[in-house]
Amino acid sequence: MSEQDTGSVSDVLIKYYDGTERTATIVDEEVPYPDGKLIVSRTDPQGIITHANQAFVDMSAYTREELIGTNHYILRHPDMPAVAFQGLWETIESGKKWQGYVKNLRKDGKYYWVKATVIPNIRNGKLVGYTSVRRKPSRSKIRESEALYETLK
Ligand SMILES: Cc1cc2nc3c(=O)[nH]c(=O)nc-3n(C[C@H](O)[C@H](O)[C@H](O)COP(=O)(O)O)c2cc1C
Repeated sequence: MSEQDTGSVSDVLIKYYDGTERTATIVDEEVPYPDGKLIVSRTDPQGIITHANQAFVDMSAYTREELIGTNHYILRHPDMPAVAFQGLWETIESGKKWQGYVKNLRKDGKYYWVKATVIPNIRNGKLVGYTSVRRKPSRSKIRESEALYETLK
């Protein structure tokens, strides 16, 4: 296949906040968010995935077995600025809901944009984890976020 068919391909070293790192293959090709679907996942208080719905499995291109027990940062795309996730964690750790636009990395190296809402799950006054629900973002919000994140990197 030519580059025009697949988008450019490169290997990028991704360093995570907790000090771990991995080399990921990045394919500059978007997989459009499917109409009418909600992508849902739940994590424990540390961001380890405890639940993934079928739409999440399908869009991430990982199996459910690969996702459960893994840190949610497995989806982090190198085009996302660290400051976006600092804002996410500050907000949800203080017990508030966070909303934002996220470019996610699939197992096959392609990407997909989501409009994410992350909420803290509180049971009997205790934080037990977080839930993220993603919806299809508008094209104009994707373009705005791309431009903003480019300046923040
Ligand atoms: C419920 C929940 C859902 C999350 N969803 C995503 C996601 O879809 N994509 C992503 O890159 N990070 C997501 N994160 C943030 C990651 O935990 C992580 O902070 C981020 O990928 C950046 O990685 P880093 O903190 O190692 O730099 C989510 C966190 C929580 C608590």
